[in-house]
This record gives sequence, C-alpha cells and structure tokens, in this order.
Amino acid sequence: MARRKKIYEGKAKILYEGPEPGTLVQYFKDDATAFNAEKHDVIEGKGVLNNRLSEFFMTGLNAIGVPTHFIKRINMREQLIRQVEIIPLEVVVRNTAAGSMSKRLGIEEGTALPRPIVEFYFKDDALGDPLVTEEHIIAFGWATQQDLDDMVALALRVNDFLSGVMLAVGIKLVDFKIEIGRIWDGDFMRLVVADEISPDSCRLWDVKTGDHLDKDVFRRDLGSLTDAYTEVAKRLGVLPTNVTHPTKPTLIN
Ligand SMILES: Nc1ncnc2c1ncn2[C@@H]1O[C@H](COP(=O)(O)OP(=O)(O)OP(=O)(O)O)[C@@H](O)[C@H]1O
Ligand SMILES: [Mg+2]
Repeated sequence: MARRKKIYEGKAKILYEGPEPGTLVQYFKDDATAFNAEKHDVIEGKGVLNNRLSEFFMTGLNAIGVPTHFIKRINMREQLIRQVEIIPLEVVVRNTAAGSMSKRLGIEEGTALPRPIVEFYFKDDALGDPLVTEEHIIAFGWATQQDLDDMVALALRVNDFLSGVMLAVGIKLVDFKIEIGRIWDGDFMRLVVADEISPDSCRLWDVKTGDHLDKDVFRRDLGSLTDAYTEVAKRLGVLPTNVTHPTKPTLIN
C-alpha cells in the first residue's frame, strides 16, 4: 500500500488515514500491555487474531442492528473503520465479579452478579483510567444524560449478544470493555461501538475448566496468550487454518 498518514499510534493499534473522508485504517499490532503499560511484551500473532475476532464480533453486532465503526477487513492486520469522535470513557459491563471490581469491593472472583453492572472509567493513562460516576461525566461535559442512557443501552445490547455467542462455544463472558464514539451527519449525531472487541478487552473463562482465555493469561503469567486467543478464534470458527504460523501458502480473502 502507498505511504499513508499515521493519525495515532496507541499501545495495541495504529490508526492511518483511510481511503475516503470519514474513514480510517486500523492496524492491529502484536504488542501486549497491562497495568497501564507497566508490563509490555510482543506476542507474535496477537494482532492477526484480534483483527479477525474484532471483525467477527463487530460484523455480528452490525447484523443485529447495533451500530459499530466496522466497515470491512482489509488484510491480516488491518480493517477499514468509520472515523468517530471517541467519548473519553471506557464502558465496562460485568456479569461476574473479577479483576478490579473484586479488589475494590472485596467480592471473590467468580461470584455471579445479580444483574449486569455497567461502569464508566475516564480514559486518561496519566491518571490510570479512574472509575467515574454519571455525575462526573455530566458535570465535566464528557457526555449528556441522553448520551449516557444511550451508552448503557448500547453496552447492554453488546453484552447480550456477546454473552450468547460465547456461551454457544462453551465460554463465559465475565466482563468486557468497549469504547463508544459519535458519528455526525450534519446536526444529527449517533453513537456507535468503536475501538475493538477482542480477548484483549474481554474476560473469557472456559465454562467447564474455568481456564482464562483472555488477556489475564498475559497479566497473570498463566501461559501462552496466542494459544488462548487461538482457542477462542477456533471455537468461533474464525480461524479455519493456523493463520499465525502457516506451514504452506494460505489463501487469505
Ligand atoms: N473509529 C474510531 N475513530 C477514531 N478513533 C478510534 C476509533 N476506534 C478506536 N479509536 C481510538 O484509536 C486508538 C486505538 O489505539 P490503542 O487501542 O492502541 O490505544 P491505547 O494505547 O489503548 O490508548 P488510548 O485508548 O488510551 O488512546 C484509541 O485511542 C481509540 O480510542
Ligand atoms: Mg486501547
């Protein structure tokens, strides 16, 4: 591809200018980071798997009428997306207690929650992405009450969809994080799911064994991250062949 303008390079992805106005190319890197980038490693093949998995989830969401930024996958590591104005919040939905919620509230990991709990974290690496309330969000103008209502509804629809898709392949969706962005059409604004949906941004536990099939494998040194992500991709039918280490030429469409 001809040289293109890099718009942003983050920890896991690079955004390039897209072919049409209002589009971007999202490139998935192999870098894995945790604990606000204190832990960093390069995991060969992770970007390829996340590109495929995010395509799979976003395509499914689009198909059931949940709007996302995803347009199409371009190649092994890149996808074409709609450019959005990212709302500076990480929207987390939890079905089972784990991670920071277990620590903060002293709830044992694995405890089923009485209902899905939606949380907001302010996207600011320097502050360590702190938990914020709707009061903060409205007072500081990050989103309006209407936006918040829409974001919660969107997040819960994503939760229902992802929970079902994962359960069908023997995986429990413990929690996940999404980012939401605004797309403007003149004065009309709509909210869409942006960024990525992948085992980097979900907690996924094998229903039978309880094995972690997500980024906790990296955070907690539980084994091979590529193996865990490959397992998720295989179960979902996203990886018909071994794309990360092909032994013979494979046709990529
Ligand atoms: N459709 C989109 N339009 C514009 N920006 C997007 C879109 N989807 C995702 N982004 C932004 O692109 C970046 C993706 O890069 P990456 O995930 O590597 O960032 P990061 O290191 O996690 O940093 P941060 O999310 O804090 O900016 C994020 O900043 C994300 O908010
Ligand atoms: Mg990110």
